Amino acid sequence: MMNIFLETYGCQMNVADSELVASILSRDGLFVVDNIDQADVIIFNTCSVRQHAENRVIGRINQELSRKRQNPKLLIGVIGCMAQRLGKEISQIIPAVDFVVGTDQYEFLPEIINKTLETHVFSYKTVSDNSQVYNELHPIHQGKFNAFVTIMRGCNNFCSYCIVPYTRGRERSRPVADIISEITRAGDKGFKDITLLGQNVNSYRNAEVNFAELLRRVNNIENISRIRFITSHPKDLSDEVIEVMAESDKVCEHLHLALQSGDDDILRRMNRGYTADHFRMIVGKLRKNIPDISITTDVIAGFPGENQAQFERTRQIMQELEFDYAFTYKYSPREGTVAATFPDQVSETERLVRLKELIKIQEKITLKKYQQQIGKIKEIYVENFSRKNKSEVSGKSRDYKITVFPGGEEAIGRFIRVRITDATGWTLRGESL
Ligand code: SAM
Ligand code: SF4
Ligand code: F3S
Repeated sequence: MMNIFLETYGCQMNVADSELVASILSRDGLFVVDNIDQADVIIFNTCSVRQHAENRVIGRINQELSRKRQNPKLLIGVIGCMAQRLGKEISQIIPAVDFVVGTDQYEFLPEIINKTLETHVFSYKTVSDNSQVYNELHPIHQGKFNAFVTIMRGCNNFCSYCIVPYTRGRERSRPVADIISEITRAGDKGFKDITLLGQNVNSYRNAEVNFAELLRRVNNIENISRIRFITSHPKDLSDEVIEVMAESDKVCEHLHLALQSGDDDILRRMNRGYTADHFRMIVGKLRKNIPDISITTDVIAGFPGENQAQFERTRQIMQELEFDYAFTYKYSPREGTVAATFPDQVSETERLVRLKELIKIQEKITLKKYQQQIGKIKEIYVENFSRKNKSEVSGKSRDYKITVFPGGEEAIGRFIRVRITDATGWTLRGESL
């Protein structure tokens, strides 16, 4: 029996891909284990979105080299976005890596692992395949109650800073029937909270079914209770999708909508395809039609050429729109992207100063948003015991806020109505009704 340990970095797409890989491996009699000490093969599923993400993985692999020295038969493999981006070059950066497999070639993993085990010669397969959607494979969902379901792969947007279109290839949608059957199966297994995944879910299309229609159909699946989706692109979020969100009981009051910048010139040079006012307009519509909606976002600090006045516009729009949470990032130049060639790069120090400012602004807003929940009654899908206190349980509200309240084993896996009594910046506290 060959034991495989999978370690995953990056976004939810990678988490979902690791679940897919687990399924591909186990179909071929390779066994995915939770304990790295039992592994014959360690696979790192990697992310390239920022240089920091790559450096982290390289650091982690180097850490495991002593394990390989003790057990020369141990294999180390790299898959995911870094594998796709760097291909066989990875073996020059980390010579101890035994195999590299790109984002469209996971079906070949068992073959490559077996071959490398026999020959102990480095091998790789990273050719991109823009038609690959991994149909009819049944991912092994890792969570207990939340399942991520990939509805599309790739991205065609080519935001000028972003490596994803290069590591994930062209956008393609999975067939509706396949998505529905995967969700139904997940529901049968007890996953009641489903997140539909794609880099730009709003451009989903399979024959006559667009994203709004897909949402309607998923909403009709009986054995699930909650539906979310990430990520939406502001240029493609249609009125029809907002309507479906408002009228579908299972679609949660929660939307992640990346702003990136509050300045029109920066947005244009980012190739985002919308203006700050368009973004404001969408947020207005969402809040009007779905009153309790929680909106989260992504913002980049220090994009090339961003001057103080432009940065100020980002600060202002964050103050004005008051997101429930914002993932803030320091711009990281990615080789091969258009923005990396822009001449007027903002200095590393200044990027960090701006990032810290954005974090400070958002912390206050998040705290305020969470405190506004006090007194409300929310439905919590309980996932586990609280990490800090075993006489408490923890779960998520429909608007994706972690909520902790007194409770025991019997609450886990159930939907419980909770009155919110307190809030920190990250967590709500309450009591069950
Ligand atoms: N497809 C999603 C969208 O457009 O909303 C985003 C996916 S990307 C993996 C997640 C976030 O990483 C982006 O929204 C962006 O804020 C950030 N990001 C991407 N490339 C970056 C870069 N080169 N430097 C800093 N942040 C970056
Ligand atoms: Fe990257 Fe833009 Fe595609 Fe999102 S939409 S993955 S930011 S290129
Ligand atoms: Fe990273 Fe690839 Fe996701 S670059 S953010 S793992 S699509």
